[in-house]
Amino acid sequence: MIVSRTLLRREFLCGLVAVGTVPVFVPAPGLAQRHGVPPLKSAAESRGLFWGAAIQHAQLDDDLEFAALVAQQCSVIVPEWEMKWAAIERHPNRPNFSRADAIVRYAQSLGLALRGHTLLWHRSIPDWAKDELSGPHGWDLVASHITGMMQRYGTAPFLQWDVLNEVIEPKDGRTDGLRQSPFLAAFGPDYLQRALKVARGAAPGMRLYMNEYGVDYDGSTERDRRSVLLRLVETLKNAEAPLDGVGIQGHLRLGDEHFSARSLREFLRTLANLGVRITITELDVRESDLSLPLLVRDARVADEVKRYLDVVLQEPALDGIVSWGLSDRYSWRTTAALEEKGLVNRGLPFDQALQPKPVTTAIVAALERRRPG
Ligand code: G3I
Repeated sequence: MIVSRTLLRREFLCGLVAVGTVPVFVPAPGLAQRHGVPPLKSAAESRGLFWGAAIQHAQLDDDLEFAALVAQQCSVIVPEWEMKWAAIERHPNRPNFSRADAIVRYAQSLGLALRGHTLLWHRSIPDWAKDELSGPHGWDLVASHITGMMQRYGTAPFLQWDVLNEVIEPKDGRTDGLRQSPFLAAFGPDYLQRALKVARGAAPGMRLYMNEYGVDYDGSTERDRRSVLLRLVETLKNAEAPLDGVGIQGHLRLGDEHFSARSLREFLRTLANLGVRITITELDVRESDLSLPLLVRDARVADEVKRYLDVVLQEPALDGIVSWGLSDRYSWRTTAALEEKGLVNRGLPFDQALQPKPVTTAIVAALERRRPG
């Protein structure tokens, strides 16, 4: 979609600040009224929460209209992939921070905060490191990566960091439910505490999180994952590991999912009672039937998010909510298979034209139902 830069200058921009490769904007004050609904960040902040979105540096660089919407709607942004180990250190001892730094400059120029995502993830280990993790200097590689990232990105405007991402997998058959990852194979279960301690040592003021998926619904798989996660958090807290919070990804799915408001509420309360804060870190909705009329599709997405947020927003330990993308124009849920059919998954707060949908209104309404403060 080509957007006239003239339009952008007139409609959206009252200031363009160049900060390296990513231009940044101060959106025109009228933008909020233009959409007819208050910015998501305003509705969230009125309830003591932040609203964020995952973004990519190329989106901010190439899509001025989208960059302006991010600035208007979000108080926090999350690099979707640019801060992962495989993206930072493609070659050993030659980390490339340029894309990550550009995103930080964009945030700083607009007074936005960031969530750091993510230091250790089994799906983002540099190829060269995979072979060396089990070697004599394997842990040095991991500790050096964590330390380097925390020394560079371990203070404001960063609020929180996902130190550990998706470390549980009950289907791998371990009694502790940990994922049989290259990290576990190389270092044993202690790698979890060790990683958190290295991060704390390098960035004493940063809030350190573990981020997990698959705990939102009430199927047997999700119930297994919830109990493993609760046991793991309890073990880490009992060992006095520096774990400050848990990210619940919130990848919702339309279809015949077993959802229980009561059991989700109970799970979040039990998690918080272990002494951690909670952030919903990757909220989006995967549609199940894209052949339905748009109005029906959008109503289903809105209903699913309302049902979920009405439970999540009751949790006093909640810090904020991040959607995994802000607009259907850019969503990992629109797979190549959907693109080949000319289809777009409509599971994010704004549509491809950056217009609000019923789900936008549902999010604002759910936030406004949360007890203030
Ligand atoms: O376009 C760039 C290219 O310019 C660059 O040179 C290259 C370097 O690796 O990467 C290309 O970008 C790709 C990026 O998506 C943008 O499309 C990356 O290859 C690719 O790895 C990346 O995939 C991301 C994936 O995590 C792996 O990092 C997805 O965007 C992102 O949505 C997905 O997000 C994960 C969360 O981190 C964890 N929870 C699940 C979630 C969905 O899988």
